[in-house]
Amino acid sequence: MIKVEENASLKALNTFGIDAKAKYLCRISEIDQLTELINSPLYKKEQHYILGGGSNILFTGYFNGLLIKVDLLGIQITEETDHFVKIKVAAGENWHEFVQKAMHNDWGGVENLSLIPGTMGAAPMQNIGAYGVEIQSLIENVEGIDLSSGHIRVFSRDECEFGYRESAFKRGLKRKYFISSVTLRLTKNSHRLNTSYGAIKETLNEMGVTDVTIQKISEAVIKIRQSKLPDPLVVGNAGSFFKNPTISSSQYETLLQSHVTMPGYQVDNQNIKVPAGWLIEQCGWKGKTVKNIGVHPKQALVIVNYGGGSGAEILALAKKIQASVSQKFEINLTPEVNII
Ligand code: EPU
Repeated sequence: MIKVEENASLKALNTFGIDAKAKYLCRISEIDQLTELINSPLYKKEQHYILGGGSNILFTGYFNGLLIKVDLLGIQITEETDHFVKIKVAAGENWHEFVQKAMHNDWGGVENLSLIPGTMGAAPMQNIGAYGVEIQSLIENVEGIDLSSGHIRVFSRDECEFGYRESAFKRGLKRKYFISSVTLRLTKNSHRLNTSYGAIKETLNEMGVTDVTIQKISEAVIKIRQSKLPDPLVVGNAGSFFKNPTISSSQYETLLQSHVTMPGYQVDNQNIKVPAGWLIEQCGWKGKTVKNIGVHPKQALVIVNYGGGSGAEILALAKKIQASVSQKFEINLTPEVNII
């Protein structure tokens, strides 16, 4: 049986804490409910949007349609050897709770992705990544339900067409599939420890760790994130608001002449990725507040809602930030969050 809530409050369903409403809201905790929903006249009549943990979304006003909230739960080992384990995780499971479970069971791979807000189903959508690891390297497959036929389809890692904060689910498959579960392949021993990111090494040193384990890496990542990124339970935010832009090596060389400290990371022979947080900071935005919203004082890539800010105000601030970065550096910033 499905229940559809009308004029539903979205305040508790987005980490920005935006007080928006949706015309209709339907929670899916069983696959059968999704089948029932997609065969209903309501689904055929209304535009829809699928919502996971609400940690990467900005509601800019009333959502005039049907919001489908993913509440599917369940974690199941599908294959296990002495060396690896394949785990099928339902889309509504909380990402960090799963990471904690993995650390408890000594399953390796997800430790660098500790404390990322959101759900399992949303993780492959934008190929979540942090501290040198992206989820794509751990994905065995992603199971989706075709929203026009109700049929289940299993996507291999290649079929997901992952890129930096990108996947086929954000491009060609957008709004066509409901991600129902993700199967990850994690290591059981001979873990591949990734401490390449400078901040991890420094934090492990500060912690006095000599014997590095996946659990210690997870602890270090949690410390780093807590020191830089605002906790959405305390201050509304959706993590990085923009993607880190990629520019040509020649534009980078030119910019370096007038901005000698400009950081850049080689993507390939012709392209350099520049930290958007640095660009935004150089434009003077870091720590700025505008009424009840602002730019986080410790990480300029994060826009925060101190309480009572609206989605439209946040979007207006984001546009001002984009305009000043474009004016100063001739670099276009693309939002990382989904703007609805
Ligand atoms: N920087 C500044 N000022 C700032 C912020 C950053 O100068 O206010 C510069 C510094 O040079 C710093 C560099 O940017 O060394 C990189 O900063 P950081 O390590 O904090 O990473 P990031 O590039 O700002 C990305 C991801 C984060 C992820 C971290 C760690 C994107 C859009 N963001 O941020 O992901 O946690 O790397 O891997 O790729 C998220 O997606 O929501 C998110 C938080």
